[in-house]
Amino acid sequence: MTRYSIAAIPGDGIGPEVMEAVVHVLEALSDAQGGVCFDFVELQAGDGAKAETGMALPPGTLGAVERSDACLFAAVGETAKEVILPLRQGLDLYVNLRPAKVYPNVPHARGDVDLVIVRENTEGLYTRIGGRGPDWGVSLRVITRRGSERIARFAFDLAEREGRRRVTCVHKANVLDATCGLFVEACRDVAAEHPGIEYEEMIVDACAMRLILEPERFDVVLTTNMFGDILSDEAAGLIGGLGMAPSGNIGEGHAIFEPVHGTAPDIAGEGVANPMAMILSARMMLEWLEEREAAAALEEAVVEVLREGKTLTPDLGGSSGTGEGAASVSRRLAQKEF
Ligand code: IPM
Ligand code: MN
Repeated sequence: MTRYSIAAIPGDGIGPEVMEAVVHVLEALSDAQGGVCFDFVELQAGDGAKAETGMALPPGTLGAVERSDACLFAAVGETAKEVILPLRQGLDLYVNLRPAKVYPNVPHARGDVDLVIVRENTEGLYTRIGGRGPDWGVSLRVITRRGSERIARFAFDLAEREGRRRVTCVHKANVLDATCGLFVEACRDVAAEHPGIEYEEMIVDACAMRLILEPERFDVVLTTNMFGDILSDEAAGLIGGLGMAPSGNIGEGHAIFEPVHGTAPDIAGEGVANPMAMILSARMMLEWLEEREAAAALEEAVVEVLREGKTLTPDLGGSSGTGEGAASVSRRLAQKEF
């Protein structure tokens, strides 16, 4: 039996609701599978933590995440940039992996979308270097060769590993020739090491449009931090919304898995948030932990529950609550043979 220590950051808004849901699902998985189990270490961060302790990211949280085998992060409100950005940068989680895939019974714009955004996660505009005076503001965009090469390598390795055929490098080098110019150059060099994978380049504004017109043509989208942020919400919009969009912040040896959605203050506390983005983030975590059988079982259980369509949350056109959706996934897991 492999025992994993999982740092759990519930955060604010719907965060604690979807965290509770995913913890139940992972417990059901471990009961059913027998080969894996989890010790959850709950950590404080976010608006609530700031109100209580004066710090959005209390000292110790980063260290505790570092000591864990992996981290599940639900959602943090107004203080997000004081929490998730220091975690990403402090642990050098340079990949933000954001799959966008259409699941059964999920209302979506177009069928057949199955793409993955590989977003650089430590550089670009997110270093937050800059300043402001009364009448001006400056945000410095930092791109390095090392940062660009390693994210490009991750994208091509992923394409090879997952049998994906094409990598699209998304940039704005026609205007941002210094930063995007360097990014594209690094991507081209890495592409040359992977002749088996088709490589193309696309300017970000054109990509934003083509994602709407022909999303099924995209496979691996490789891009810088801010472009990846924007395009991943757009991609979520194609596959049923943020309630269906998981992600992983991945580095060498550490990783934090979080739904792309935020705290959804409009529905917080009502128990109707879609737990699937959080559950699918846990599936990504299992894959990263190399618990492939467990990951596959969880994916299957989610597909079965969605296909059955009896416990969909309101964002998917149903009338079930967060807990009911998660309980259906747990029940399916309990019936699986491992
Ligand atoms: C995301 C979020 C964060 C980001 C914010 C909350 C700091 O939008 O994970 O996509 O911009 O990266
Ligand atoms: Mn975002």
